[in-house]
Amino acid sequence: MNQNQRAMVVLISGSGTNLQAIINGVESGAIPGRIAAVLSNKTNVKGLERAEEHGIPTIVLDHKAYDSRESFDQAMIDAIDEHNPNLVVLAGFMRILTEEFVNHYAGKLINIHPSLLPKFKGLNTHQRALDEGEAIHGCSVHYVTFELDGGPIIGQRSVAIETNDTADLLAARVQKEEHILYPLACKLIMEGRLSLEKDGPHLDGNLLPATGQDFSQLEQWEEF
Ligand code: GRF
Repeated sequence: MNQNQRAMVVLISGSGTNLQAIINGVESGAIPGRIAAVLSNKTNVKGLERAEEHGIPTIVLDHKAYDSRESFDQAMIDAIDEHNPNLVVLAGFMRILTEEFVNHYAGKLINIHPSLLPKFKGLNTHQRALDEGEAIHGCSVHYVTFELDGGPIIGQRSVAIETNDTADLLAARVQKEEHILYPLACKLIMEGRLSLEKDGPHLDGNLLPATGQDFSQLEQWEEF
């Protein structure tokens, strides 16, 4: 592994299917960079297994072992910064982050959220989309700010809501889209084509609209 390559650190709390999509993107050469480490706040989760299977160093920091959110986040900063990452990727990381943490990684911290933001911030997004009678649902990748699920949006992919849809069926279809959208966002950032500027995210030098780039029509993310 070339240590000079641009580096990502991925934070997880669970199954890590988005982590897997990013690992696949790195291993296929589509994402120019390496995953320097995977950090989990939970032991024995599938995402850690995935990292180990692919020879990626893992870090487990159990948030319950810390007496405050501040001390836990500082421990994460210390562990992450050892790898000097260009990008910190939240992939199903289920902890609220302190303002200090978010500011420390300003402009290089991204998250994937299972809704078409700014709709349905927070949890239970699929059920809420069904309850609201939405016709379209989807996922968003955004830069992380201190406002929960409120940072500048990079891009989205949408799915149609079907009659007789359930939250589980919808979640499965949205996750398929996440696995295209998230590695694509990582690729564009690692390539230097996408960045957060003062007025918002720029792709190939152009300011993106408020809901980011609509990547819904893209079939092969690797070729974007
Ligand atoms: C995804 O649905 C993502 O949108 C949300 O957390 C979930 C993580 O799933 N932020 P996985 O661990 O990547 O399978």
